[in-house]
Amino acid sequence: MSQAFLAPVDPARLPRHVAIIMDGNGRWARQHRVRVAMGHRAGTEALRDIIRNSSDIGIQALSLYAFSTENWSRPQAEVEALMQLMLDFFRSEIDELDRKGVRITILGDRDGLPAAQRETLEQAQRRTRQNAGLRLNIAINYGGRAELARAARLIAQDVASGALDVHDVDEQALESRLYTAGLPQVDLLIRTSGEMRLSNFLLYQCAYAEFVFPQVLWPDFTLRDYHECLAQYQSRSRRFGGREA
Ligand code: IPE
Ligand code: IPE
Ligand code: MG
Repeated sequence: MSQAFLAPVDPARLPRHVAIIMDGNGRWARQHRVRVAMGHRAGTEALRDIIRNSSDIGIQALSLYAFSTENWSRPQAEVEALMQLMLDFFRSEIDELDRKGVRITILGDRDGLPAAQRETLEQAQRRTRQNAGLRLNIAINYGGRAELARAARLIAQDVASGALDVHDVDEQALESRLYTAGLPQVDLLIRTSGEMRLSNFLLYQCAYAEFVFPQVLWPDFTLRDYHECLAQYQSRSRRFGGREA
């Protein structure tokens, strides 16, 4: 799409970390009278442009909610379709992402995934480990509460083994044991489809995020919508509990 159609965004004030809850695939499928799997497929199409553009404009980190720990409760055929799409997506995109210098990190419990998915994700993560461009986090079998429980467990282990003093258990100690260790906190959280909730996504990391809730269903989300979200973010006054300068 021509840049002329996009909302003006100040490149000097971009969010460092954008998180997206890609919601509305099911409603999109219903609207188009197709199977829900088709809605998810259409959703991955929307994804390509957003990743590419985030890398091009210089967003530091992009975190995408692809599959929650709660999504296992969906009908088996839908879960299987989502798992297959994940494989297709990584297999078709990995070359270009790697070429662009994108570094992929998987957020979530990989042990709970089928072997083929786990291997593909781990391979993508390994292959792009040295890349210095966009940090692309894909949350799969992810839950914010489970992530915090895991961090607490890791801390407890380190305290028990003597590697960590109990007085050193602080925010930094916790952050360094989250899946997002080393990344900035989320500046902008986008959730499509008009729903206004976190659904267990990045609970800790969103403590001071700006939230934007566009009505558009995820498969219809375009670069224009994305840049409108970025422009909205830039219109907000972020005070972090203080006073405006
Ligand atoms: C989001 O779309 C994709 C996943 C949860 C994997 P939904 O499938 O939740 O779409 P709606 O909410 O039913 O429209
Ligand atoms: C959140 O969306 C999970 C993903 C987008 C992957 P859901 O559609 O599963 O969340 P709820 O059920 O509306 O809270
Ligand atoms: Mg949904």
